[in-house]
Amino acid sequence: MPKLWGGRFTKETSEWVDAYNASISYDKRLYREDIRGSIAHATMLVRQGIITKEDGKKIVAGLKEILQKIEDGKFEFSQKLEDIHMNIEARLTEMIGAAGGRLHSARSRNDQVALDMHMYMKRVVAELGELLIFLEEEILDLAAKNCDTIMPGYTHLQRAQPITFAHNMLAYFNMFKRDFERLQGVWQRADIMPLGACAIAGSTLPIDRQFVAKELNFSDIYSNSMDAISDRDYILEFLSFASILMMHVSRMAEEICLWNSTEFGFIELDDAYATGSSMMPQKKNPDIAELARGKTGRVYGALMQMLTVLKGLPLAYNKDLQEDKEGFFDVVDTLQLTLTVLKNMLATMTLKKDRMKEAVCHDFSNATDLAEYLVKKGVPFRKAHEIVGKTVAYAIEQGKYLGELTLDEFRNYAAEVEKDVYEVLKPENCVASRISFGSPKVEFNRSQCDTNKQLIVKQKEFLSFWQNNM
Ligand code: ARG
Repeated sequence: MPKLWGGRFTKETSEWVDAYNASISYDKRLYREDIRGSIAHATMLVRQGIITKEDGKKIVAGLKEILQKIEDGKFEFSQKLEDIHMNIEARLTEMIGAAGGRLHSARSRNDQVALDMHMYMKRVVAELGELLIFLEEEILDLAAKNCDTIMPGYTHLQRAQPITFAHNMLAYFNMFKRDFERLQGVWQRADIMPLGACAIAGSTLPIDRQFVAKELNFSDIYSNSMDAISDRDYILEFLSFASILMMHVSRMAEEICLWNSTEFGFIELDDAYATGSSMMPQKKNPDIAELARGKTGRVYGALMQMLTVLKGLPLAYNKDLQEDKEGFFDVVDTLQLTLTVLKNMLATMTLKKDRMKEAVCHDFSNATDLAEYLVKKGVPFRKAHEIVGKTVAYAIEQGKYLGELTLDEFRNYAAEVEKDVYEVLKPENCVASRISFGSPKVEFNRSQCDTNKQLIVKQKEFLSFWQNNM
């Protein structure tokens, strides 16, 4: 099969070159974008008088037929034809003859692939935006139901201070909220139309780039043809968004693994979201959380790969840029599955609230509250810190928790301690008396839940804008 660009060649490419050069095995997933872009381009060519109406009609009908064939799984992709663009164009020309050869007027694969990738990215933003919202809603639901579920909060993985399960969930909500904001940035950078840049320097034909942009729901067009075909910033931004998102997912996944262990016992995963061991019959493993943690690696890998591909690349198009796809597509698939499975795992897990409460009653995580109690009685904080440190050491020696010390024992260290200390030391009161904004106090968490619900309403407005403009 002669190549579409074969004019100046005397030989066919070697099979090794075909194998090395081809991207069809993975860029065929761009077929919808490629065909939609070609239809818009052909429509513009007709409007501008660059091709005839009849040719335009044949082209559009042929492209629609090809679309149907691909969707029905009846299209045969060929490696010899390198990529999705040439596979479709070659078939079109086979089907409709000379008119097919007019489609590529004032177009190069350089701006064609850039267009496909921009369009595909916009679809990805809309799809992942929706999944991210689903996850946020699940987290918010868990938070709203657990504003008074007391548990230990950790620093250095040591019991630090009593918090609520809602507070922990709301911290994750904030992370995913920032991820959504980053996704908005990706949309902005993807929503620029590169077609018409052609191979590098535009065209002498009277094309109408604004018309194509409108047809394809782009809000802007690239103002520099060289930038249009060589810009992959939007992919880098997407991969950065994805890496940070997966970092958040992996932190949550790690906590789930910990909480699900016998040692913590704060949650139990649903049987449908856990797996067994082939040898140890008693095992119920959090493989899904582990995989979510583990898959973070391949997402970071794709970001590093893309940064490296782009580094030092001279303008404008170079074949290196074809390497922008596999990692990116893999990240898209990874995020789609990860967000879905994580949401369902959270929705189905059981909280063992008694265990959480018990844990927080059998530790020294109320020590800071004792120190602040003394501060309220006029003791300088540094002094109070020392007093409580000594009291804790004494209690450990006695095999008691703070709430179990007698008033006399307290007073050996600080004369200021009175009977009301016992109420102060109860973990639920520790949480209830946090009055600084942003602390785990029940009322704060409740109002955060409400604020975040409002935020999701706003995010859904973006989402429907994306869905209508991709
Ligand atoms: N498959 C190519 C890619 O993904 C399409 C653009 C090829 N352009 C070229 N001049 N060889 O980048």
